Amino acid sequence: MLVTGTDTGAGKSVASVALLHALRARGLRAVGMKPVAAGCRSTPQGLRNDDALALQAAAGDPRPAYGDVNPWALEAATAPQLAARSAGVRVSMPPIRAAYAGLAAGADVVVVEGAGGWLSPLADGIEHADLAHALGLPVILVAGLRLGCLNHARLTARAITADGCRLLGWIGCAVDPAFERRDDYLALLGSALDAPCLGVVPRAARPAGIPALAPHLAAAAAAAAQVPAGDAPGPRGFCAP
Ligand SMILES: Nc1ncnc2c1ncn2[C@@H]1O[C@H](COP(=O)(O)OP(=O)(O)OP(=O)(O)O)[C@@H](O)[C@H]1O
Ligand SMILES: [Mg+2]
Repeated sequence: MLVTGTDTGAGKSVASVALLHALRARGLRAVGMKPVAAGCRSTPQGLRNDDALALQAAAGDPRPAYGDVNPWALEAATAPQLAARSAGVRVSMPPIRAAYAGLAAGADVVVVEGAGGWLSPLADGIEHADLAHALGLPVILVAGLRLGCLNHARLTARAITADGCRLLGWIGCAVDPAFERRDDYLALLGSALDAPCLGVVPRAARPAGIPALAPHLAAAAAAAAQVPAGDAPGPRGFCAP
């Protein structure tokens, strides 16, 4: 499935890593993917992005190849369109399809993390909806629990549906330790969104504690397990209205 968020910094990576561990706890082979990553550092092995490395590590053994997890690695930490222009790169879909097919061949489930929010373009001419359609993925929306999340979550859910994609459910993620009335907001989100809550990710004291959050996403793993990885099914696939 495709994991999107109410915004950048909404908890997509944290939720995706915890979800991968929850899927593995069910005995499934689960791998993550960050098709387009802006904000990479140069290493002897090539450009590397922290989100993609975290997803790669969460897959366990055997680790998928970095190039499959992150086929488009862009150095500048900015909007992917701008990062691609700075690098003189034209991001296109075929390498994403090929990388996804490579991952799917060795996995039961592929968790694909988007970039920014739903309407943040992945590249010139490539929207998140195009990715969902191309790979045949339903969508999980991660709502970063902070002020403004109700508006962002409702707008995002509406846009996902308007784009002809299927919203599998949503996850609340405790991105803001000072956020007040969290439970009240969760109740508001629950009644405002026309899709099930698949879990609420509490605060991890430190990054190393994120895999231990997996039990909070047991429902998300159960839903994700119904979305088997497979070759990209064609232009509309799972998202066909
Ligand atoms: N449940 C949590 N516990 C502790 N820290 C969290 C939690 N959720 C998010 N964070 C922290 O908040 C920040 C944003 O989270 P995360 O990187 O998962 O967001 P994102 O939506 O993937 O962002 P991006 O758009 O950059 O990919 C990170 O520093 C992350 O470690
Ligand atoms: Mg991320």
